Amino acid sequence: MSKIGIGIIGLGTISEMHLKAYQNNPEASIVAVCDLNEERARAKAEKYGVPNVYTDYRELLSNPDVHAISVCTWNNTHALFSIAALEAGKHVLVEKPLCKTVEEALEIEAAVRRSGKQLQVGFVRRYGSNTGIVRSFLESGELGDIYFAKTSCIRRVGNPGGWFGDVERSGGGPLIDVGVHVIDLCWYLMGRPKVRSVSGNAYHKLGNRANIRNFASYKAADYSPDHNTVEDLANAMIRFENGASLLVDVSFSLHAKEDELTVKLYGTRGGVEVEPKLTFVLEKHDTMLNAVPQINHLTFDFASGFQAEIDHFIAVCQGGKETLSPVEDGVEMMKILCGIYESGRQGKEIVFD
Ligand SMILES: NC(=O)c1ccc[n+]([C@@H]2O[C@H](COP(=O)([O-])OP(=O)(O)OC[C@H]3O[C@@H](n4cnc5c(N)ncnc54)[C@H](O)[C@@H]3O)[C@@H](O)[C@H]2O)c1
Repeated sequence: MSKIGIGIIGLGTISEMHLKAYQNNPEASIVAVCDLNEERARAKAEKYGVPNVYTDYRELLSNPDVHAISVCTWNNTHALFSIAALEAGKHVLVEKPLCKTVEEALEIEAAVRRSGKQLQVGFVRRYGSNTGIVRSFLESGELGDIYFAKTSCIRRVGNPGGWFGDVERSGGGPLIDVGVHVIDLCWYLMGRPKVRSVSGNAYHKLGNRANIRNFASYKAADYSPDHNTVEDLANAMIRFENGASLLVDVSFSLHAKEDELTVKLYGTRGGVEVEPKLTFVLEKHDTMLNAVPQINHLTFDFASGFQAEIDHFIAVCQGGKETLSPVEDGVEMMKILCGIYESGRQGKEIVFD
């Protein structure tokens, strides 16, 4: 089978994970890159030996050697680039979040159906080896039915600035940026139950705390703290039609004692802490048992997670597999995220039909 020709749009921080993983995949060949910032695009092309460099995504999409693309740009361009690529006959791996609004998400879903091409949403945590281990415990019935999940992604000072702080380009703050990962991971492991309602809050209290000194955090390629219109903290209770519920809180700025990443699921026969350290909580012979798997990484390992995501995408493009993170899951996630923002604005629970 011939190699899948890859084009990457957006060559900022996260593109590095995509570039490395495609380069490691013997079935893929990176043939084109595109960024508004030509110097950045040229530097990446040189580093990875990519023959074609563009600053206009339409030129990249008209290159017949590009069979599939990664969208690694600001969230406000995810829908535009994904739809244009599908219409140009390319497969798409789009970074999370799928887009900014439910309307855009539905337009992308319609374009996937029309085009017959593949679209994979970059829910990279689904591809982590620990997620696979948890799934095998869940599928064997070891944990029973999951009826409650709880997740936190707390950064005390972690607004990446630049476009991340600009609601027009990002669609929101920590909820849509990091909340999407942990909410999706819980929802995926809970068996993707249909959402019944969400009740949430989004607070704009502390700003981006750019005054804080001697503390390093993730930053956008074009970092600037000057414009910040996104929330600092969001929390929510999400109810599902099967009666299960999910409690979440996420922040870019918070007066918390320490940063925190937790993902916990509770079932009728056992529980599991996926983060910060994979641990199964079981009951055997009338005894409670905390079981820690003996594996290389007890937390999410970025490099192998991205490699697995990209390897899976290439197999999907070759027609060998169904994606683990299809467009309809991206749509459902946008319903949850936008529902939480709407609930915060209205100050009441949002109930879905
Ligand atoms: N999966 C993950 O764990 C993860 C982690 C970080 C970021 N992301 C996602 O990846 C995407 C990019 O994030 P980042 O941190 O790399 O941002 P970044 O700001 O570092 O890079 C974005 C790049 O996109 C380019 N760009 C923007 N609009 C463009 C356009 N119209 N045409 C061509 N290039 C354009 C910018 O010039 C910039 O180089 C976001 O959607 C973000 O949510 C995912």
